[in-house]
Amino acid sequence: MAEQKLISFARGAPSLDIIATDELAQCAERALRADPAGAFGYGTAVGYPPLREWIAERQSVQVEQVVTTNGSMQADAFLFELMVDPGDVVVVEAPTYDRTLLSLQKLGAQVLAIPLESDGIDVEALAAALEEGLRPKLAHVIPNFQNPAGYTLSLDKRRRLLELAEQYDFVIFEDDPYVELRFEGERLPTMLSMDRADKVVYASSFSKTVCPGIRVGYLVGPEPVIAAVVKIATETYISPSMVSQAIVTEFCRSGAIEQSVETVKNALRERRDALAAALKRELPEAKFVEPDGGYFMWVELPEGSDVDVLFENARDRGLVFVKGTDFLIEGGQNTLRIAYSGVTPAEIDEGVSRLAEAYRGVADAAA
Ligand SMILES: Cc1ncc(COP(=O)(O)O)c(C=O)c1O
Repeated sequence: MAEQKLISFARGAPSLDIIATDELAQCAERALRADPAGAFGYGTAVGYPPLREWIAERQSVQVEQVVTTNGSMQADAFLFELMVDPGDVVVVEAPTYDRTLLSLQKLGAQVLAIPLESDGIDVEALAAALEEGLRPKLAHVIPNFQNPAGYTLSLDKRRRLLELAEQYDFVIFEDDPYVELRFEGERLPTMLSMDRADKVVYASSFSKTVCPGIRVGYLVGPEPVIAAVVKIATETYISPSMVSQAIVTEFCRSGAIEQSVETVKNALRERRDALAAALKRELPEAKFVEPDGGYFMWVELPEGSDVDVLFENARDRGLVFVKGTDFLIEGGQNTLRIAYSGVTPAEIDEGVSRLAEAYRGVADAAA
């Protein structure tokens, strides 16, 4: 077979054409010239103070409730280091972000995966487990355009989760890097903004609104939690990258971020539409819920489909994706995650053709 250009439905990353490269270069020039002392010095573990202030204002919290980090992955790692001891019960969604699963397993947490529905985590299944005596320290939830499923937690479920967190005294870790990428429907309030009992620690990121290579993320939460995270951060790396954070600050303050978010959302809507149409056309066996934002679509193939074999078959045809099993502790052999963030509509069409061909190959071999 002739060599084909690889198409990746695997990477949860934007394609370069939707990154505001010129504006970023200009913001870098302005930021580094305007504040060389702040940008080129070590700074401290709280992060670049003007960025901390910008985030605090946006989130309507005190500056002391914010810490900025090298990507939100680093924020997650600090929070887990602070809160999770071996044997602690941590609730996650099933499926959930594979790196979260790996981090928690590495720390020796007892991970309890609660099924994810198309309107978010099954809160009544969680309530039942709590009634039966489950005592988690933490519940990790990705509320908007979830990774990997693309689903969004409904307002009622947000309220119910907060109620449960208060009643059973656990922390909700609201991991929200995709919140700004809603291209359809109405924005829902964060659990952070609804929290009256200091039960929420919130993480977000500039990876999806500015660019991933800048590596800037943050945590917002109760002051004592943030102070404890700052201590861990100091001991870990003295401070995050001030150069990156100075550039992000200029990108935010100049308004370039709003334009960037518009560009990204328009491209994502178009890519989501192309993906849904191609799947309906070429692989009608595939079941999926069209996401209202974000990067990902979760695809379920008929019961009994073997995505391990499909993966190999697709790779031979120059297409990669992530198997659903990577996001689950058990089950999901008939599922996969398609990231449409890094591929053009034409690549999506070609990629889905390859996927459908690979699927027919598996089905024919099994017949
Ligand atoms: C749910 C979730 N949390 C955290 C991250 C990490 O993002 P960052 O680039 O800010 O480290 C990602 C990235 O894909 C993600 O999907």
